[in-house]
Amino acid sequence: MSVNAADQILVIATRNRGKSAEIKEMLADFPILVKDLNDFGPIPQPVEDGRTFEENAYKKAAFTAKVLGLPALADDSGLSVDALAGAPGVYSARYAGPQASDLQNNQKLLEALSGEANRKARFCCVLSLAVPAGPALTYEAFCEGVILDSPRGANGFGYDPLFLYPPMGKTFAEMSMEQKLSVSHRGLALLDLKSELEKVLQWLRHRQAEENERRGANDICMGGKNS
Ligand code: IMP
Repeated sequence: MSVNAADQILVIATRNRGKSAEIKEMLADFPILVKDLNDFGPIPQPVEDGRTFEENAYKKAAFTAKVLGLPALADDSGLSVDALAGAPGVYSARYAGPQASDLQNNQKLLEALSGEANRKARFCCVLSLAVPAGPALTYEAFCEGVILDSPRGANGFGYDPLFLYPPMGKTFAEMSMEQKLSVSHRGLALLDLKSELEKVLQWLRHRQAEENERRGANDICMGGKNS
């Protein structure tokens, strides 16, 4: 790759260490320096009030890019269960309440599905890659599975112990990170992004140059006003 890692910083717009670890793993051979919000001090967070994963992903990416002045990649993802009319969906992180733990969310899911025969569910991931001026690229992927009656496995995060991926006969929490990323919603969306790697980097560089020009022009204007 012709790009020096120090040339390009990409901020993952999350404090969720599970998500961040998976994205960093997938982008490890990406010629950029990948950070997440834990690398920065306390910064404001946008309200995730979108009705779709795409709206929320764009909101998080655009907001973070603007606040930090750096390109940002946001993942909005969640679990949609057929028998629950798509719930918890965009509310997956706070299914059992605003500060709910993964354990509480999993317990609530098991209660909601108690006695239910239809256990079909899918994970969805929308990635939004935004620059400070606003425009964004979007990638989306799904993974189909079934919800078990009780948790299995200790890896991963969120609903991983309850989500069985039938082709492998394992829950996501029974897979290594590498195995999970080879089939998961997030892994597949990141694969799409990576397949456009060269174009994405060109786009980021082009947008960064525009941004620098715009800032330069603003500085000149401000200088004129003040003098
Ligand atoms: P977000 O930060 O609003 O995108 O929250 C996504 C939530 O969906 C997470 O907190 C998890 O509860 C759930 N989720 C998303 N992706 C996964 C995954 O790969 N495994 C398990 N749970 C996930």
